[in-house]
Amino acid sequence: MTMKTRILLGALSLSQSLSMPLGLAVPAIAADAPAVQQEPLAPATVRPERVILNLTADPATEMAVTWRSAPGRSGQVQYARATNGPDFVKTPMTVAARTDDATLAVREDPAFRAAYHSAVLKGLEPDTVYAYRVGDGADWSEWFQFRTAAREAKPFRFIYMGDMQNQILSEASRTLRMAFRQAGDAAFTIHAGDLINRHDSDAEWGEWFAAGGFLYAQTPQMPTPGNHEYVRDEAARAGSSINGQWRRQFTLPENGPADVPASRETSWYTDYQGLRLISIDSMQVDRDEAARKAIVKWLDGLLASNPNRWTVMFLHFPLFSSEPDRDNPKLRAALKPLIDKYRVDLVLQGHDHGYARGAIGKDGPSADDAGTTYAVSVAGPKMYDVGSLPWARKSASRTQAYQVIDVSQGALTYRAFTATGQPLDAVTLRKP
Ligand SMILES: [Fe+2]
Repeated sequence: MTMKTRILLGALSLSQSLSMPLGLAVPAIAADAPAVQQEPLAPATVRPERVILNLTADPATEMAVTWRSAPGRSGQVQYARATNGPDFVKTPMTVAARTDDATLAVREDPAFRAAYHSAVLKGLEPDTVYAYRVGDGADWSEWFQFRTAAREAKPFRFIYMGDMQNQILSEASRTLRMAFRQAGDAAFTIHAGDLINRHDSDAEWGEWFAAGGFLYAQTPQMPTPGNHEYVRDEAARAGSSINGQWRRQFTLPENGPADVPASRETSWYTDYQGLRLISIDSMQVDRDEAARKAIVKWLDGLLASNPNRWTVMFLHFPLFSSEPDRDNPKLRAALKPLIDKYRVDLVLQGHDHGYARGAIGKDGPSADDAGTTYAVSVAGPKMYDVGSLPWARKSASRTQAYQVIDVSQGALTYRAFTATGQPLDAVTLRKP
C-alpha cells in the first residue's frame, strides 16, 4: 500500500464505506484515482444553519424562511426594512417560528435529532429590501437581505438548475456558484429535482446546503422533487413518499391539488411579476393514477385562469428526454394536451443527465415561436449519453450547465451556460 492510498483510506467517512457495495469498499480506490469527496454527517448546531428562503404564493408581501438548529432549541425571526446604515437593527419586528423538534431515521443515524424552524414573514412592502436574522434569542445568524417582488409585471430574471444529485459539494457546487456569479441578481432559483442522491442521507442534504451557503438565505430557492427525494413506502399509493427532510427544510406554497395530500409542497404554484411558475411533482403523476388525475385537473384550472403573460412549468421527469430510451409516455400523455391547449411557454426538466432544448407543438417539433420550449439540463457531474434527438434544436453531452431566464412583458430570453460560464444555448420567445 502506497502512502497516498493510506491517506485516502484515512479520509473515508462512515457514510462512504456504508454506501459502497460490500467487497468493493476500499481496495477499489486505486492509488492514482481521484477520491470521491463526500462530507460526513454533521450534528445540528446551536447556531442556526441551513437557512433558506422560499417564495410563498404571495411573493410581493410575504417571504418564507426555514432553518435548523440543535434539538431543544426554539426559533424566532427578526426582520426590518433594510436601511443604508446600521439603524435597521434598532427596531426590528420579531416573529416566533414554528418548530418541529424531530427525530429522523437517516442513513447515517437511525435516530438523528434536529429542531427544524420555519416562519412566513407577512405584510411586507412590495419591491422592497428587507434584512432578517434567525435564532432563538441568544444565538443568532448574521443579518441576511432579500427583496420582495413587485406587485405588477416588471422585468426580472431567474436561474434554472438541473440535478445537482452527485458529488454535490465537491463537483456540483461550481455550477450553482457560477450561475450566481453571472446572475447574482436573480429573483429566485428553480431546481428541477434530484437535489440529492440518497433520499435518506442527511450528509447529502448537508452538502446541498453547503453548496449554496448564504446564497440560499438571500435568494429564494424553489425546488420540485425528483425520484431521489422519494423513499419506498408500501403504505403510499405511489409506493413511495417524499423524504423526511423535504417539508421540514423547505416552506413552499401549499396550493397544490387539495385532494392529493401527498403532493403538499411538491406540486405548487406562485405568480411572480407577470409569470406563473408551476411545480409538478412528476413522481406523483408517474406512479399514482388517482394523483395523476387530480394533478391534471388542478393544472387545467391553473392554466385556464392565468392572469400572467408568461407560464413556466417545471418537473423532474422529462416529457421529452435527452435519451430516447428514457421515455415517460404516461407523464407525456397526461400533461402535454394541457401544455398544448394553453400554450405553456417553457417546460424545464431534469432526470436525464444531459442537455437538450427544442420547441414542440401539438403536431410535434416546431419553430421556436410555434410551440412550447422544452429543456433538459444537468448541474452535477453524473452524465448519461445524449441520443440523436429529432425534437432538439440544441443538445450537449458530458456538459454541466445552468440556465438564466430573463422575463419582461414582451420577451422571455432563455440562455444556457456551461459550468465554466461559456454560452451553450439561447432562445428568445416574444409576445406582442
Ligand atoms: Fe432522477
